Amino acid sequence: MLKSWDARRDYIIPGNVKETIEFATQHWIHSAERAIQKRGRFAVALSGGSTPKAIYERLSTQKLDWSKIWLFWSDERAVPPDHPDSNYRMAMEFFKRVPIPPSQIFRMIAESEIEKNALNYEETIRHVLKNQLFDLVMLGIGEDGHTASLFPNTPGLEVNNRLVIANKIEEKKAWRMTLTFSCINQSFHSTLYCIGPSKQIIVPKVLNAAIISDFPASRIGTAENKALWILDTDAAKNLN
Ligand code: 6PG
Repeated sequence: MLKSWDARRDYIIPGNVKETIEFATQHWIHSAERAIQKRGRFAVALSGGSTPKAIYERLSTQKLDWSKIWLFWSDERAVPPDHPDSNYRMAMEFFKRVPIPPSQIFRMIAESEIEKNALNYEETIRHVLKNQLFDLVMLGIGEDGHTASLFPNTPGLEVNNRLVIANKIEEKKAWRMTLTFSCINQSFHSTLYCIGPSKQIIVPKVLNAAIISDFPASRIGTAENKALWILDTDAAKNLN
């Protein structure tokens, strides 16, 4: 059952990993159907990392009106699309199985001229979504409390007049392209997927932190657009 954590965030603990992946899949499908009904399309920003793989796998078997679904990304590493670390490559492993028109798939070109391409991606979002933002932004959470590629102590945390930026992650000696907090929080819905025992320390830290904290993920969610945390029992173990 969906519960309210605070004015900015709801959460749900569907059960074990399998039950949580199934809930997340049905929630995605329901979000898509509702957006298509309301706005004629479902524009979703896909999360990277490993957590969403099982969700993408389940979605790739679903009968949906894929002709009305538009794929973007929440963030991308500065690597080519065929690189093992590419979030695009990971997601397309699954979404290549469904009939989404290629013209409705928008890869973040982060491997070259990342700052220019971040601006281009922002223009694409504005043009394609006609000054609305995403129907759903999918997010994960790292053990340091990062989300998308908004890492602790990085310049990207302070940018609020952009939708998409290039963010230098000193710690990783790497650049990333990422949606900004303002893009995520102005979108219709954002969902953080936290699955597995590796999340059981950071989840309570972030949910109990102030909106501005050492953990970037604590800034996700507003009273107007509440974030939804989807947690399995392992990730939620230390939540009281
Ligand atoms: C990325 C993601 C990142 C990810 C978290 C959680 O590009 O890696 O955008 O924010 O969601 O690091 O990763 P896992 O799902 O692998 O735990």
